[in-house]
Amino acid sequence: MSIGQQILFSVGLCLLSPLLLAVVPTHVEIQANTCNVCHGEAGESAGTVPSLKGKPVAYLEQILLNYKTDKQLGTIMNRVAKGFTDEEIKAIANYYAGLK
Ligand code: HEC
Repeated sequence: MSIGQQILFSVGLCLLSPLLLAVVPTHVEIQANTCNVCHGEAGESAGTVPSLKGKPVAYLEQILLNYKTDKQLGTIMNRVAKGFTDEEIKAIANYYAGLK
């Protein structure tokens, strides 16, 4: 690549990056996809597994921390919650609480 092409390429990348950010799912959205397998599309369950969508953030965060530390026992959620840091749990709780 010539210097001119390199400059053009860099300018192009700068112009494209906001578009890429809008399209590429965020970290928390990718994590939430694993939850949605059981909790339903966008956290809205059609079955017996509870919905997560729109529940209060403090409730979601606390219950996930309870599962993580085995203060509350479920069938599967203790194993799921142990896979996330406290910061990730906070972000996931915020994500579901914010869904309308
Ligand atoms: C394999 C299925 C499965 C996956 C994957 C899963 N859950 Fe669950 N979740 C459950 C079940 C079943 C319950 C009921 C408690 C139990 O039996 O563990 C539950 C309960 C919960 C509750 C309590 C809801 C309430 O109001 O009582 C929260 C919050 C929750 N899950 C969040 C999550 C999050 C966040 C993820 C992704 C990181 C996730 N779950 C992934 C099956 C799953």
